Amino acid sequence: MDKKLIVANMKMNMTYEQIKDYLNEVNELEYSHLVICPSNIYIPYFINHKYLVGIQNVASQNMGSLTGEVSAYQVSSLGVKYAIIGHSERRIKLGEIDSDINKKIKLCLDNNIKPILCVGETLKEYNNNSTKLYIEKQIIDALNGINDLNDVIIAYEPVWAIGSGNIPSTNEIANIIRFIKDVIKEHFGYNNIKVLYGGSINPENINLLNSINGLSGFLIGGASLSPSKLKKIIEVAVK
Ligand code: PGA
Repeated sequence: MDKKLIVANMKMNMTYEQIKDYLNEVNELEYSHLVICPSNIYIPYFINHKYLVGIQNVASQNMGSLTGEVSAYQVSSLGVKYAIIGHSERRIKLGEIDSDINKKIKLCLDNNIKPILCVGETLKEYNNNSTKLYIEKQIIDALNGINDLNDVIIAYEPVWAIGSGNIPSTNEIANIIRFIKDVIKEHFGYNNIKVLYGGSINPENINLLNSINGLSGFLIGGASLSPSKLKKIIEVAVK
């Protein structure tokens, strides 16, 4: 079995002083399947260590007049290898839609960056039992026109589980992971899609989450801001 991919989504956190302390600790981590995604301004400080570096979003074009944005083309030249695309915070708070996400995934692939497509239902769909319908549409729209899914990763992140301390049961997660793989098989004819779980992962629940079959790794928000928590999560996930 492949090693689990551990993706740290640092979101919009830490001052420069805090980043220096954080780096002192994470630079000691030896795990080669760790991807750290800091705020864009700190990316260069994270390059060339024993882990890999990801970006939390990319622009919808390669270069040019798009004030304030950062492109896959640019960060690829810095050595960034992964990008989180379509995170629910971007969809909900910043109005990102599936067609933007589709464009961004294509730009990542064109620039040798592995996109991590985030999908997941809100509490409303969860309570209506429409999780599968909702996720299926997100996947089909985001991956429209992409023929080679070898470098694409999907992260299942129920919106209601992000930052809330609540997680679905292991059965529920296993069921959605299987469903995502079936959707990819049916609509894209691809059998090896990697699926991560994300949402309120911490050192206390990682043992349980790591027992779920078919998961290729984890996307970690809040807990990744603590190098010692990140280390504990990695220690369990490598087992
Ligand atoms: P969380 O965030 O681990 O803090 O719930 C996960 C995410 O938003 O990717």
